[in-house]
Amino acid sequence: MYKKGDILTVTVENMAFGGDGIAKVENEYGKLVIFIENTAPQEIVEIEIISLKRNLAKGKLLKIIQKSPDRIAPRCPHSGPVINSDGVINYFNEKGEINLEKNCGGCAWQYIDYFKQLEIKEKEVWDSLVRIGEIDADYLNKIFHKIIPAQSPWFYRNKMDFSVVRDKKTGKRHFGLHMKGKFWQVTEIKECHLFRPWIKNFLQPMREFLTNLELKEGEIQSLVTRCGVNTGEVMINLIVENDQILWSHEFLQQVQKINYGDDKLTSVYITKIVNKKGQKKKFEEELLWGESIINEKLKLEDEQELNFEIAPSAFFQPNTHQAEKIYSLVKNLAELTGNEIIFDLFCGTGTIGLTLAGNSQKIIGVELNEFAVQNAKQNAELNNIKNTEYLVGDATKILKEMKKEADILVVDPPRAGLNNQIIELISSMKVKKVIYVSCNPTTLARDLKEFNRLGWRLDFVQAIDQFSHTYRIETVTRLIRN
Ligand SMILES: C[S@@+](CC[C@H](N)C(=O)[O-])C[C@H]1O[C@@H](n2cnc3c(N)ncnc32)[C@H](O)[C@@H]1O
Repeated sequence: MYKKGDILTVTVENMAFGGDGIAKVENEYGKLVIFIENTAPQEIVEIEIISLKRNLAKGKLLKIIQKSPDRIAPRCPHSGPVINSDGVINYFNEKGEINLEKNCGGCAWQYIDYFKQLEIKEKEVWDSLVRIGEIDADYLNKIFHKIIPAQSPWFYRNKMDFSVVRDKKTGKRHFGLHMKGKFWQVTEIKECHLFRPWIKNFLQPMREFLTNLELKEGEIQSLVTRCGVNTGEVMINLIVENDQILWSHEFLQQVQKINYGDDKLTSVYITKIVNKKGQKKKFEEELLWGESIINEKLKLEDEQELNFEIAPSAFFQPNTHQAEKIYSLVKNLAELTGNEIIFDLFCGTGTIGLTLAGNSQKIIGVELNEFAVQNAKQNAELNNIKNTEYLVGDATKILKEMKKEADILVVDPPRAGLNNQIIELISSMKVKKVIYVSCNPTTLARDLKEFNRLGWRLDFVQAIDQFSHTYRIETVTRLIRN
């Protein structure tokens, strides 16, 4: 009975994993679930249905009729659409064009009070485990620990990837962060409260330089800023596609003029993407100035310190301080005696295993991405850790062929989670403890149900807020054999 273009008034019940508010109305299929961006729980809003499929719809927020008690003014002027004093939403500027100073996709939940964000995230994990994981609610209450908040909900990222997009109509280049869900449009941000405070000195001069630059043939693609938050070392890397780059000296001068506050400029690169017909894409990194890497440290709660050398293409956890908290928690849950053999599945650049290596007999890391494994080996060497071994390939396939046994298994899969085959393989081993680090509560819940079916008992759950002002949630859980 509802159709695209309908305008209706609904109440937002809660938030979906993905960041939208959810409202429900009755329709011919029973209930129609409507996802609405920029809304908060308990809000009464006017929306337009912009897409509809049987019992799922997407609504565009037109007006906030009754505000949530947890709605606050965003700290960043680029966050969200303009909302006037009558609650009317305006996505456009006075010329009727999309407002390039608003709707930044960088941290879409700034309008929700931080403590409410934590409550929503914690509830999302709890609800998923009960609803999808079919874990008894009374039992879950006993093993569910309070969410670990951010050490700082602002200025927490150690890496940002700013985009350059050319407007096809005007030919003008724009520099900033993508608008939510719009890869063809960027918000021209002048400040950003996720990265280091000096970014407000950096963005406007860089925008003037990059958007006015005359190129011979190629195009600027993006600009990556990185900073070791425990060392203050800064790397700037401009990514350019197919240009001769006759202006690198001017770019370097611009970068060197910026005031980096308490941090220090350490490394400046231009990465050229060579994209020729019939040939594989190549990335040529040219060090323009300074060191080839920046250093970062991880400081765990037990005072263990690990050093990392970050090259332009190397992966590193984007929030150093919260990664320290996650790894400290994993280490506590492992309860190591020094004799354990540990499999670190989906090990990425090896960080979890490296934090456990000093208190165990052996770490075997398994990872699909060979470059991440190269990083993991370098990280082990840099920290003088000799009891690690890495296997490159699909974790399920490797586990199937593996003859060795483990005492503890750590898994940190991508959002899709595990598959039943790998859970069965794990269960057929002698391993006594599984520590599951998850970035998606719904796939985590699905996998925990399968572990439970195969005789495992969940005995610890704790969410950690790694990406404040976004919907993303990390959860650390432990399973032991019944
Ligand atoms: C959430 S990240 C883990 C990050 C890691 N713990 C770290 O700290 O660097 C998930 C990792 O799983 C890897 N991966 C994805 N699919 C895989 C598969 N089928 N087998 C093994 N590794 C896989 C990805 O390359 C990625 O590095």
